[in-house]
Amino acid sequence: MQPIHHLRRDYDHDPLSEVDLAPDPVMQFRTWFDEARNEGIPEPNAMTLGTADAKGRVSCRTVLLKAYDAKGFVFFTNYGSRKAHQIAVNPHASILFPWVALARQVEIAGRVEKISTAESLAYFMSRPFLSQLGAWVSDQSSVISSRQILLSKFEELKVRFANGEVPKPEGWGGFRVVPDTFEFWQGGQSRLHDRFLYTRDAGSWRIARLAP
Ligand SMILES: Cc1cc2nc3c(=O)[nH]c(=O)nc-3n(C[C@H](O)[C@H](O)[C@H](O)COP(=O)(O)O)c2cc1C
Repeated sequence: MQPIHHLRRDYDHDPLSEVDLAPDPVMQFRTWFDEARNEGIPEPNAMTLGTADAKGRVSCRTVLLKAYDAKGFVFFTNYGSRKAHQIAVNPHASILFPWVALARQVEIAGRVEKISTAESLAYFMSRPFLSQLGAWVSDQSSVISSRQILLSKFEELKVRFANGEVPKPEGWGGFRVVPDTFEFWQGGQSRLHDRFLYTRDAGSWRIARLAP
């Protein structure tokens, strides 16, 4: 087996200090997100979503951030999926943006809530036709016997919605992570990384530096 223990790199990015941080973590997120986009990070809106079931057993998967503002961070999925079942019994979740090429990560923890049907519909209508069909094609996270099942269903759906008007499936829509905390991590030289934690404090945000 080839050893991998030597895989590491030194981070030579500028340190992050508290004076550089926006007082509002959503503004700080915007700055870093825009930098990740401008630096050409592939799929900068891809985030790892961690959820847990009622017994505290954790699972993670990648989803795409589709909107964010002061209310929270929105992604879309199947409401019958494993993650949706976990969110139903345990609404606490964490999302992580792993912008490794910039030696950065942002972790946001909070409660997850369903967005309104109107908001889900507005986003669904903006999706290209084939992505709309994709939302219909799969009972996400259920066991299937073959790929052929998906392909046949896809062909059926193309015929069924041949007029191009695809309604939003009832069991598909958005969730919003409403943040309680944000952590911004910047890799630094000699493993002296910078970490800043924002926590809610009587209507505003408190910022603390954490040991790396
Ligand atoms: C780059 C990337 C983006 C993805 N985006 C989404 C997404 O926005 N929504 C989604 O439901 N699944 C998305 N997936 C698939 C999920 O990672 C996951 O397989 C799926 O949601 C089922 O997860 P669950 O069984 O834990 O519910 C994406 C996967 C990758 C690799």
